[in-house]
Amino acid sequence: MTDRDYFTADTHFNHGMIIKYSGRELFMTPEDLESYEAMRATGDQQAYMDWRPSAKSRENMDEAMIENINAVVPADATLWHLGDFVFAKRAPETVKYRDAINCKDIRLIWGNHDRRKTYLPGVFQAYYESTMIYVFNDVTLTEAQVQACGSLRKKLRRALSKKNVQPIMLSHYAHATWMGSYKGWFQLYGHSHGGLQKFMDEHMPNALSMDIGVDCNNFMPLSFSQIVDILGQKRQDKPKHVIDHHGVWTFPPKRVVSGDLT
Ligand SMILES: [Fe+2]
Repeated sequence: MTDRDYFTADTHFNHGMIIKYSGRELFMTPEDLESYEAMRATGDQQAYMDWRPSAKSRENMDEAMIENINAVVPADATLWHLGDFVFAKRAPETVKYRDAINCKDIRLIWGNHDRRKTYLPGVFQAYYESTMIYVFNDVTLTEAQVQACGSLRKKLRRALSKKNVQPIMLSHYAHATWMGSYKGWFQLYGHSHGGLQKFMDEHMPNALSMDIGVDCNNFMPLSFSQIVDILGQKRQDKPKHVIDHHGVWTFPPKRVVSGDLT
């Protein structure tokens, strides 16, 4: 199956300081890398606060991530960007980075660093706070599309019963639970730049969710197939992600008090 949907997050185009905050050493000029490592070796908080990457390192980062997106995402595919697309004070900066991407259909899930006034209508195909999407064999539908059409809801229910659709919740932020989280529905998120992984491994090892941000994925978007390979394998290998009353079937029903499901 040819992939129709691609996912990424936290590109932070035009944001030089993210090179320091997220340790994006890959894009540093040799001079920046040398001074960065010297700064780290001091272990000094003030030295860390004072260190700034050069404009050239930021340009390296921006160019490399644009190249990566254009190399992977076909122009006629849909790129779901899960927030923090660009650091921009004015709309032309946002437009410049959007126009450098060949994909015609980019959907943005708002991130906390996305200044909404810089995202003009039509620059991206659509904007969402968060959304559930349903990836069928032949079409991808958003929750709003499903809710707006009765016949689509019937089609969705039939497809879900046959398991030939993958629901995915898209949000800038990681969630503990989401619609269908206990029965194999996925969640993709950004925001944490890989910093949540230890918590997830310790406290939510069975969650079918992942940080789709560039810092966790070699600064590349991932296709729907790649997501299914990763989370689908986890679905096979792990018990279901049941951390509240959803997915806990008892009769007679028990009251849930303070998370006590026993
Ligand atoms: Fe971010």
